[in-house]
Amino acid sequence: MKKVMGQNRRNFMKGVGMTALMSAAAGSNGAFAMGQSRGRRSKYNFDEIYSRVGVNSIKWDSAIRRYGKENITVPMGIADLDFRQMPEVVQALKKRADYDNYGYESLPASYYEAIIDWNKDRYGLEVKREWIRNSSALKPGMISSMRALNPVKGKVILQTPTYSGFTGAINKAGMRVEMNPMKKVDGRWHMDLEDLESRLDYETKCLILCNPNNPSGECWTADELRALGDVCMRHGVTVLADEIHCDYVNKGHKFTPYASIGEKYANSSISYRSPSKTFGHANLKVAYFFTQNQDLMDATMIGGGHDAGCNAFGLIACETAFREGRQWVDEVTEYVDGNFDFLVEAVNKDGNMPGIEYSKPEGTYLAWLDCNGLMAKVITPEYRKAYHDKMRDAGRRHGGLTPEMALSEWIVDACGVQLNAGSSYGIGSGGFMRMNIAIPRSSLKTALDNLSKACKMA
Ligand SMILES: Cc1ncc(COP(=O)(O)O)c(C=O)c1O
Repeated sequence: MKKVMGQNRRNFMKGVGMTALMSAAAGSNGAFAMGQSRGRRSKYNFDEIYSRVGVNSIKWDSAIRRYGKENITVPMGIADLDFRQMPEVVQALKKRADYDNYGYESLPASYYEAIIDWNKDRYGLEVKREWIRNSSALKPGMISSMRALNPVKGKVILQTPTYSGFTGAINKAGMRVEMNPMKKVDGRWHMDLEDLESRLDYETKCLILCNPNNPSGECWTADELRALGDVCMRHGVTVLADEIHCDYVNKGHKFTPYASIGEKYANSSISYRSPSKTFGHANLKVAYFFTQNQDLMDATMIGGGHDAGCNAFGLIACETAFREGRQWVDEVTEYVDGNFDFLVEAVNKDGNMPGIEYSKPEGTYLAWLDCNGLMAKVITPEYRKAYHDKMRDAGRRHGGLTPEMALSEWIVDACGVQLNAGSSYGIGSGGFMRMNIAIPRSSLKTALDNLSKACKMA
């Protein structure tokens, strides 16, 4: 680590190529023609470097605030898109903004119809209007369900590694996290149902399923979901199916909605969705959830954690995206699939990234990199102490620091790439780092070239 940390970072970066930050700062004129080599004509350009600097974006601006502009080359943290919004959505929002009254509105029937049609067309799933409710984001709906369905201060099961935000949601609901660690076999994570069954008791009436799984990318099969559902039903456990990443599925794989695997499974579950990951609508604040079981829905509605106050712009964006976004989603998912191939090749090329292991996932736009080798080399006790002291002296949180957090800092320091520390994704995450690859291919190349240099020097 000292080798990299001790040297002048500017010298280290020399020769690595134009940084994504420089490209981003250059604005939207610097399009690269490198990722979109598909046979048919593309309508949308995901190669375009589109600046998100200076608009309070958490991914870019928070990283720059924390590390300094000169130290951040490619931020690859929080799960949103560095792509330009669908122009059809932008047009619809401008039209709405032109009507300059923003008073109370009801949710239009056309919004529900767009959700119903999208589910039928994309996943062959029938969702009825009366099964759907709305919230300002995915987690608030889920918090309502947990409050209503689980015993007070009871346990909610997470199959780990899984999305770090579930822990906060469970705590907000007044519950405790119970981890059911998965097992990694031949590069794919598998549910451990025996372990799950041993954890289910009178205090545990909800399990959060993440499908496709953030961060490891499994698109659970119908058989896997039924096996999980059978265990849950035996113990009266409701499956809260988070399907927010369902539109990002790599070639050769399939998203299976939990509500599609059979009547009894649909009847003992609630599904949570949002256009936020698919279309990059996170700050437009619209999500929806559904169940055919009226009792579960009635309970959720008195759970009181959700906020049904969807805003006018979010509703319009969601409806437009579902109505007009089929081609956009086909193209963006193909592009991200290509990014995964690019990443897999870079990591696995002989000696290119010593200390990192990776194989292609089934879905999401998140890469779950096994960095145990690198971590063992560079996160020495001396580095951890130096990292602790640095955090303390900067007035930052310095309790509960993990080796993965130290590795995240080391990688920023070594090559300007910011990844999420695996340690917040639960048991089984030791030595892993999460990388968001929903970015232009040229930025991904810059990040991987930099990371490769850092790994080789470690
Ligand atoms: C699996 C999963 N669920 C939920 C969320 C958060 O969704 P929201 O911001 O709509 O609550 C995320 C965000 O990354 C996620 O990955």
